[in-house]
Formats: sequence, structure tokens, C-alpha cells
Amino acid sequence: MKRIMSAETPKFIGKKITISGWAETIRKHKNIIFIDLRDRDGLTQIIIENVNKKSFEVAQSASIEDVLKIEGWVVSRPKGLENKNLASGKIELHCEKIEVLSKSKDLPFEIEQKAKKINEETRLKYRYLDLRSNRMKNNLKNRHLVNQFVRNYLTEQGFWEIETPFLTKSTPEGARDFIVPSRLHKGKFYALPQSPQQYKQLLMVAGIEKYFQIVRCMRDEDQRGDRQPEFTQIDLEMSFIEQKDILSTVEKMIIELVKKNYPNLKIKKIPFEKLTYNEAMAKYKTERPDLRKNKQDKNEMAFAWIVDFPAFEWKEKENRWDAVHHPFTMINPQDINQLEQKDKSKIRALQYDLVLNGFEIGGGSMRIHKPELLSKIFEILGHKPEDIQRKFSHLLEAFSFGVPPHGGLAIGYDRLMMILQQEDNIREVIAFPKTGDGQDPMMVSPSVIDQEQLDELNLKIKS
Ligand code: AMO
Repeated sequence: MKRIMSAETPKFIGKKITISGWAETIRKHKNIIFIDLRDRDGLTQIIIENVNKKSFEVAQSASIEDVLKIEGWVVSRPKGLENKNLASGKIELHCEKIEVLSKSKDLPFEIEQKAKKINEETRLKYRYLDLRSNRMKNNLKNRHLVNQFVRNYLTEQGFWEIETPFLTKSTPEGARDFIVPSRLHKGKFYALPQSPQQYKQLLMVAGIEKYFQIVRCMRDEDQRGDRQPEFTQIDLEMSFIEQKDILSTVEKMIIELVKKNYPNLKIKKIPFEKLTYNEAMAKYKTERPDLRKNKQDKNEMAFAWIVDFPAFEWKEKENRWDAVHHPFTMINPQDINQLEQKDKSKIRALQYDLVLNGFEIGGGSMRIHKPELLSKIFEILGHKPEDIQRKFSHLLEAFSFGVPPHGGLAIGYDRLMMILQQEDNIREVIAFPKTGDGQDPMMVSPSVIDQEQLDELNLKIKS
């Protein structure tokens, strides 16, 4: 018989069906056993009576989290005993036949226990159990729905989703690269992308005009509650546009997203608040102010654009100017004449961040599309001419073949989902995140590799 999901069971009142899932709770009495059977969508209450000896015996031997298959009759629950919180709350299933498909040993923690009470390393070690909980399933499900929303929305706006390589070359985004040694080219290395920044700009040179990707980015940096070594961006880039076009495209998408997927949440102000970097610093002493009226109120979404960031910041330790965003960021045309000045701190970039409730949830910029200006910026950032050739010749060459004015933005998708799901940590909205020190206690990674693999890669571990 075809398996019926718990949420569908009320359609089968008076009929015999088969359902399968995990035993979430089992209450055993002398002549009757109650099981709450869980599938992806919810729970179904099963009743096994001591009239059918064989089934009763099987049910008596069942334990929590065993995987069960149950055949039985769908019966309306008596008035007053309905459970409004369950999709199947109007019915119960009277068991005729029960089969244990798989046994579960004792769990390291209770599935529906408050996650905060469980040691996080244990949750991550047994992530597949942690993900069985309602809360975590709901986080995954809503992330899936937002994925679909974003794909459909941007497709309707004329964007193409294009995948870009993971085995690539270092792109400066301000963090350390993760490096992959090449076997075929001994002594050479790929870098995992900190973002698809250069590829998406090259796609603009290719004439794609509107690109997006829901894409993993890898950055070897110290972890925080809103930082993971691999995280996801909703990355986009557009040609023949100005800064205001990018801001309005993203703003409209986010407003639609919240209205469609989170009707219970309230956007504080439409259009979003807009502050210059200097205004934000003067008024709030931070570039990512929390503009909620009541900071405890998790239903309030206070979005704000921060614009006109400085292009350069002085790195005291390295004794050089660094790009605040990345070197491809367009200088504000009104400030280009200051590039030759010694003090570059007042030069503004066409760069913007999207802030939500005190978190930076996105950032982007208009890009430099003139190769001479790009070379000049690399120089200011302290790259020697031979380094510029080695690191960026592909981009400078591409830009010599006709490049449209372009710009874009990337949303920190995990951060956005964390806030929409009203969680405190991005790990809660990622299926398999790393711990605070970058480990995966379930797979046990990072891990040592065989001598044979090291030899193949021509690598030697320093003792
Ligand atoms: P940026 O480096 O600002 O821009 O990154 C964009 C957004 O990604 C999120 N983010 C992170 N989320 C989780 N863990 C991390 N380690 C992490 N690092 C960044 C933030 C941030 O706002 N290529 C440019 C975008 C562009 O210019 O179009 C870029 O990557 O929410």
C-alpha cells in the first residue's frame, strides 16, 4: 500500500492506510499502547490495542526513534481530544499491523529538548539527530522555500543563474584563502573562492548582463556567531546600471521575500532607511546600526542601506592603504582627483552595505571598468607591477576587450535566514555547519591524510 504522510491522513477518515516514520513518544499501558509517529511533516497518533496479539507484542518491543511501518484505520478523534497544533490532529490511526523497519539505540539527547540545553558539540556530532527536531526542520524547510523564492524572483527579473568554479585562484576579499594543492601541477595550488567576485565581473565582460548565483564562499577567518568558514551568498551582478538600480532591485526582492515568506514579520520602514557611512558613524558609532525601536522585538525588521563608504583604510601594521571593500570597487567620480593625494582617507567609493537589525547582511559596489584606473588602484594598495601581472593580468586583459559599466552585491544568506528565522546563530540555519574553531565533529574534519596522498601531491608535513 502507498505510504501516506501524516499531514494527509485527515483525507482518509474511514479508510485503511499505511504510514511510516520514527516513534517520537511511546506510552505503554496494559492493554493499549499510544505511539506518536513522526515523519517530515509532523506527527500522527497511533493506537495499538491488545486484541491483535502479534501487533501488540511488536509495539511493546518498540523503543523511541525506532523506524516503524504501520497499517491501520483512520478514525476521527472524539470531540475535545483534537489537537489543533497538528495537521493530523483530528484523527488517530487504529493499528492493524506494525513492523519495525529499523531499531534505534538510546539517543545521546532528546530530540525535542530545548537545543540550548544540549552541548553544541554534541548536537553537531549527531547533527542528523539534531535535524530531526521540529525547530531545525522548520529552519531547513524555510531556507528551501526562500531559495525557491529567490530563484524565481530573479529569473522573472531577467537574471541568469550561472555556476562559477570552486577550484580557482585567490580573489582578494580581505580574508585568508583556503588552498588546494594540485596533483598534476606539483608545487602549485588552487584557492577556494572567497566569493565569485572576479568571475561575475568576467560574466559581465561576456555580455551576460544580469547574473545571480546562490553560492558557497570559503574564507579562512576567525569564527563568530555570524561567521562560518564556508557560508552562502545570494550573489548578483548587473551591467549598464547605476548604484541606485542595484539598491532598488535588491530592496524590492527583500520586501517581496519577507511579505511572501514571513507575513508575520514587520518591515520597519519602506523604502529602507539610507545613511551615508559618515552619518552612521556620527550618529550610531557603527557602520551597522540596529535601528529597531525595541531591540528585543524579533518581529521587527529594520533594514538600512549604508552608502558612500571610504574607499581606503590605512593598515598601520603593514604600512599601506587597503581597500575597504575590494580593489574592484569604483571610486566616487567626485573624489577621483584625490587619488594622487597623500591622505586617501577622505576618498569615497561607490560602495554600499545592507544592514538588518544590527547585522551586515549584504555588501556590494559599482566596479571599476577602466583598466588604467584598476591598475592605479592596485598600485595604491601596494601591489608591485610584477605582482599585478601575476595576480590580475587575466582581469586587466579582459577589461581591454570592451567592458560594460557594471556593479553588484552579495547577500549573506545565512545571516539573513538567521534573522528571519529569529535565531541567534547562523549555525542554526545551516544543515552541517562547523564549530566555532572550524571543525566538523560528525565527519571529524579537518583530519590527517595518508602518506600516499601527501606523496602524490609532493607535500611534506613539517614536524
Ligand atoms: P562581502 O565580503 O561583503 O562582499 O560579503 C557579502 C556578505 O556575505 C556575508 N559574509 C559572511 N557570512 C557568514 N560567514 C562569513 N564568514 C561571511 N563573510 C561575509 C556578509 C556580507 O555582507 N564579492 C563581494 C560582494 C560584491 O561586491 O558584490 C563580497 O563577497 O553578510
